[in-house]
Amino acid sequence: MNPPHKESFIIQGLDGQKKLDGEISIEGAKNAILPLIAAAIAVEGISSFTNVPEIEDVSRMEEILAALGVKAVHRNNAMTIDPSGFTGTRLPRDIAKRMRASVFLTGPILAKKGRVDFPHPGGCVIGARPIDIFVDGFQRMGAAFTENDEFYSFAAKGRLRGASIFLKIPSVSATETFMIAASLADGRTTIKNSAMEPEIDVLARYLRSCGANIFGEGSPTIVIEGVESLQSPKEPFNNIPDRIEAGSFLILGALAAKNLTLKNVEPKHLEAVIFALQDSGVPISVGDDTISISDNETPNNEFKSFNIKTHEYPGFPTDLQAPSVIFLTQATGESVIFETIFEGRLNFTEDIVRMGADIKLWDAHRATVRGPTHLKGRELEGPDIRAGLAFVIAGLIAKGESTIRNVYYIDRGYEKIETRLSKLGASIQRVSE
Ligand code: EPU
Repeated sequence: MNPPHKESFIIQGLDGQKKLDGEISIEGAKNAILPLIAAAIAVEGISSFTNVPEIEDVSRMEEILAALGVKAVHRNNAMTIDPSGFTGTRLPRDIAKRMRASVFLTGPILAKKGRVDFPHPGGCVIGARPIDIFVDGFQRMGAAFTENDEFYSFAAKGRLRGASIFLKIPSVSATETFMIAASLADGRTTIKNSAMEPEIDVLARYLRSCGANIFGEGSPTIVIEGVESLQSPKEPFNNIPDRIEAGSFLILGALAAKNLTLKNVEPKHLEAVIFALQDSGVPISVGDDTISISDNETPNNEFKSFNIKTHEYPGFPTDLQAPSVIFLTQATGESVIFETIFEGRLNFTEDIVRMGADIKLWDAHRATVRGPTHLKGRELEGPDIRAGLAFVIAGLIAKGESTIRNVYYIDRGYEKIETRLSKLGASIQRVSE
């Protein structure tokens, strides 16, 4: 594995002026393509995907596939996956420990090979992120679970069995992992209290195009009738646009653009955020696959504050909580933030306070933001993908220069962000540390 590169962004802040202008195209969704890549190793034949973002997490997934004997070719936002050489059952420790999405691979490896060994799946430091739901579900499907100091293992004798699984939390990755595994299990699997994110729908569509029998995705109950094998689709499968990237750019546009159009976006995936921003006074208009902010002359201090309670889809996404907090530092009034999904996702606010924001962190899940405040540029360290982008937004609206270190975290989820934002008029430069 390549070590994470040591690079920083140097940002010249706009000091609250709305100077960005233009169009930006939204890339394919990170959290949709990662489970799709995992699912592609469960099928026979070569799968092709389009609208695949060029981001570090996809590169790490390719490295894991290579360690399993699966060939992935990724160029020009397209990807092919050839699982004909798939023999491995052990996820490489150093990569899997750094990426939570590695956990998706337990489903196809266990279903195809009858065994999987993996370290505790790492990723962003945003909370405990246990795997108990995976253990419960796979045990119900007939797999035995063991663990030692370094690795967890699931092993099954013969095919996994269809099972009735109730998720105690509607976990996105557990829903996706069980959907893949259950597609090849013997009999019917019912996943209750399943996640309803758009990334679940796209996975169901891909698996169905491979011959899986899946019903009810997008609702809290998904039923899967297992089949003996899956066959890759003949046509390339098109990934959906990244709703979190789109929402982040929308927030940046609200604070720093006179006019901004997001292209190649799926507005219905972003309703919680669009409604909140519109209510706050942001002049947003929505097209079929565009979202625009036009003639954004309203001073930021005339935007109204609002409260946020993060929630599973279609509620307010936890992945947009951090950028939204930056928005609320500029809006007038007090906002209460209730982060219900992860217990480490408000820690980034300490750095925003050092930039001049008035934020009180009451406990791991609750904060209040009082605005408007003037932010001043400073040195920041990217803590996770989404807080990293919140820092970019904060740097762009602040007075003076900001340096964001460790931009590997931003590169994990956003393709060439500095090039794309520079085209809108932002001053953001990548430098080696
Ligand atoms: N949880 C358990 N036990 C489990 C699994 C999850 O208690 O076995 C808990 C988690 O600790 C958390 C809650 O369930 O408190 C929900 O977590 P979930 O499993 O839904 O999250 P995830 O699947 O690990 C995905 C996204 C995250 C996004 C969350 C919530 C991917 C690769 N990751 O994570 O995205 O925040 O769903 O929507 O799809 C990001 O992109 O920056 C990111 C962190």
